[in-house]
Amino acid sequence: MNYEQRISQAAHKVEERLLSLLRDKPQAYASVLEAMEYSLMAGGKRIRPLLTLEFCTLCGGEEETALDPACAVEMIHSYSLIHDDLPCMDDDDLRRGKPSCHIQFGEATALLAGDGLLTKAFETIAAASTLDDTKKARCVLQLAKAAGAHGMIAGQVIDLASENRQISQDTLHQLCALKTGEMIRVAARLGCICAGADEKQIQAADIYAEKIGLAFQIEDDILDIIGDEEKLGKPVGSDAQSHKNTFATLYGIERSRELVASLTEQAKDALNVFDSQKSGFLKVLAEKLASRDN
Ligand code: IPE
Ligand code: IPE
Ligand code: MG
Ligand code: MG
Ligand code: MG
Repeated sequence: MNYEQRISQAAHKVEERLLSLLRDKPQAYASVLEAMEYSLMAGGKRIRPLLTLEFCTLCGGEEETALDPACAVEMIHSYSLIHDDLPCMDDDDLRRGKPSCHIQFGEATALLAGDGLLTKAFETIAAASTLDDTKKARCVLQLAKAAGAHGMIAGQVIDLASENRQISQDTLHQLCALKTGEMIRVAARLGCICAGADEKQIQAADIYAEKIGLAFQIEDDILDIIGDEEKLGKPVGSDAQSHKNTFATLYGIERSRELVASLTEQAKDALNVFDSQKSGFLKVLAEKLASRDN
């Protein structure tokens, strides 16, 4: 299977499971469920669940074991995007090529749809039939930490607090490592936990994911300036409009690209502890993400 086939096969598998998880009960409060499904199923690259599945198999587990944790990560990611687009945050009207959740359903329903997806993520792991209780508890703990007020939420707080003022390189680094890096790191880590990986493997996964996570946000910042709205499925120029601090504004596009390239190499190097044949896909993934246009 080549790279493109693997990506679409994994995305298809994750999307089928996401739908069945969301539709597991009668649609009692339909408007919020409709909004949750609208945003969750609007597409998206599904990079985070792909990482969960890939690290599970790389560490010797069955892909199926990690499917529900992979879906949980994507639910939290989708919630973070719904809230990120709200007028009180980035105030963006387009997401995944469609009107943002609050444009389609109103702010209150969008807020609740985000809350619903966040909560559903933890329900999904707690109810996963493929994991024993110890693995479930470890996944819940890691995911809560990564998504919480010391993880992704902290990054969002720094991001918003940094609008309209200059911040240091260190603060920008921390902002990105938290708001984007933490969810990418935990996606990889959950795959390792599902497979029963050892400490050395988990550490290597952490380094790989930290590096591609930072590169991913730098690339996102570059695309916000020079990307194509049609391909991106979200507005171009949003960061400038909100007077954000980004890698592209602080370092310029050329230097930012160099950083992406160097982080990508470091990410690939971190995989050297694994069987080189089995880690080939993740190396290609790091490269493809560095040159993406969406
Ligand atoms: C967008 O993430 C938000 C960032 C962390 C930069 P993605 O670029 O993975 O968005 P989707 O899931 O493909 O829509
Ligand atoms: C968002 O970063 C990171 C999240 C935690 C959602 P951005 O605000 O740059 O993401 P986009 O560009 O809106 O997707
Ligand atoms: Mg934002
Ligand atoms: Mg945004
Ligand atoms: Mg952005």
